[in-house]
Amino acid sequence: MATIDPPAVDGDKLMQFVFRAVDEVGATLNAALVVMGDKLGLYRALADGNGGLSPAELAGRTGTAERYVREWLNAQAAGGFVAYDPDSGRYRLEPEQAVALTDSDSPAYLPGFFQIAIGSVLDSPRITEVARSGAGVGWHEHVHDVHEGCERFFRPGYNANLIEGWLPALDGVVEKLQRGARVADVGCGHGASTILMAEAFPHSTFAGSDYHVGSIETARARAEAAGVADRVGFAAEAAQAYGGGPYDLVTMFDCLHDMGDPVGAARHVRSTLAQDGTWMIVEPNAGDRVEDNLNPVGRAYYGFSTLLCTPASLSQDVGLALGAQAGEARIRDVVEAAGFTRFRRAAETPFNLVFEARP
Ligand SMILES: C[S@@+](CC[C@H](N)C(=O)[O-])C[C@H]1O[C@@H](n2cnc3c(N)ncnc32)[C@H](O)[C@@H]1O
Repeated sequence: MATIDPPAVDGDKLMQFVFRAVDEVGATLNAALVVMGDKLGLYRALADGNGGLSPAELAGRTGTAERYVREWLNAQAAGGFVAYDPDSGRYRLEPEQAVALTDSDSPAYLPGFFQIAIGSVLDSPRITEVARSGAGVGWHEHVHDVHEGCERFFRPGYNANLIEGWLPALDGVVEKLQRGARVADVGCGHGASTILMAEAFPHSTFAGSDYHVGSIETARARAEAAGVADRVGFAAEAAQAYGGGPYDLVTMFDCLHDMGDPVGAARHVRSTLAQDGTWMIVEPNAGDRVEDNLNPVGRAYYGFSTLLCTPASLSQDVGLALGAQAGEARIRDVVEAAGFTRFRRAAETPFNLVFEARP
């Protein structure tokens, strides 16, 4: 009887793969370490300690235990997140590290990205369980780090692009907002996008909605704190059933693919839009084919999609599960199935695609 030889294993390639995995394990642990440094104020204190800080100085400034701080600093230095000077034994942040790790107004701000990642990982045992049956896990069922991390991850990108780039890319929308328009921000989470738009367009009114009650409570508090609560209302409502209208502009930021019934939501958007209204859909950047997305951004999004977005959609009626890498063609299908006659890609960034749909 003929035997089939197993494929030959290249020892060098095997070791390369193992060492890549060492880097990945370090990166996995680093997600927790970044969140730790953010929550304990370690990065902020390092950014303020111009000439560098010893572990004892950093511990003293942050009210933390020196032994933990020393170990944390060495892990950060080994990963390139903190610079170490062996002559002085001090640690500091390079200017670029300080921006990315402490400046929440910068589009490069990273802690929210790690916070939503660590929240997703913390909830992953639930996902492992439901992956057998195909059941879902709702957005509302996740740990707080997912909700707060989501807000902190997306807000810098909205700050950098929404008012200056994305809204002006839509036909005639900025003029309407300047004059005074009615806007619905659907699936608004903590309301970062809603509040940003309200601050930029003081003559317009805004109705934020999200099916997650906890997110809506936070959004209301954020609007109060920003001083825009008189023109911004928030309601805990599903995208297929939010109230009010007709709206000149309906927006959805990074949430259409999370919905169980995006076509039902799209139909509802159409029924609440003014005749010449606009639906702006912001989705993660993705190509239509798997092979278009096999890159670092696609990797992160497929990861979030497995742990957050796909289970979220599967937890709801219909459970279409578009996934966070749906791509333009699938979004167009959803929009056209709801009866919109015009659809185009209006803008894009490395992380997002921005679509304009009109009745
Ligand atoms: C990734 S978060 C984005 C939140 C917010 N738009 C932002 O950019 O920060 C997805 C949001 O969609 C909401 N969501 C999911 N399904 C929904 C539905 N059917 N109706 C309304 N909101 C929904 C979730 O509660 C969550 O707040």
